[in-house]
Amino acid sequence: MQVILRQLGDCNIRRAEPSDLISVMEINLKTLPEHYSDYFYESLLAELPEAFIVAEIRGTPVGYIMCKTEYGFSNFKKLGFVKKGHVVSIAVLDEYRKKGIGRALVEESVNGVKLRKCNEFYLEVRCSNNEAVRLYEKLGFVIRQQLNAYYRDGEDAYLMAIELD
Ligand code: ACO
Ligand code: ZN
Repeated sequence: MQVILRQLGDCNIRRAEPSDLISVMEINLKTLPEHYSDYFYESLLAELPEAFIVAEIRGTPVGYIMCKTEYGFSNFKKLGFVKKGHVVSIAVLDEYRKKGIGRALVEESVNGVKLRKCNEFYLEVRCSNNEAVRLYEKLGFVIRQQLNAYYRDGEDAYLMAIELD
């Protein structure tokens, strides 16, 4: 059963289903240099469907966010071991950007990881990716670290995180 979370004009924001994964992989190939195996997409959807969200227009996905949960050291507390949501990847097709879809995807994934009782939510983003950094900052994420040569091409990442409780 499809769970529609919200509508932005003609765009439905809803949980992903297995039949969306080919489209999600296509969006990823067109928009980002980091790609993953089919199995990885399937396993994220199986493990955390609450935070694997697609934006769909007239039956076709135009954006996605996919996440996982982890246990690890807090990005905020000195000695804390916490449950963290982790944004693995988010993208919106170029022609559908700047309409609020990216924001809606992040907000709905926050709701999803809260349902799974995560204490924090984090992600890595290229330091040069101003669009994405600005979006995350608007939603309350803060830069907590700079990760040296995080990407294959040598670029640094910002680790950005938000406390959920
Ligand atoms: N009219 C005009 N502008 C608008 C409207 C509107 N109706 N709605 C939102 N906007 C503006 C926002 O205010 C924001 O402006 P700002 O950047 O000046 O603050 C801007 O549009 C973007 O916000 P959204 O529309 O919510 O986001 P968008 O749908 O454009 O998606 C994203 C953002 C996902 C980063 C997109 O640019 C993208 O896919 N980039 C390529 C892939 C990528 O870099 N992904 C992130 C990698 S990091 C990671 O995956 C963890
Ligand atoms: Zn990551």
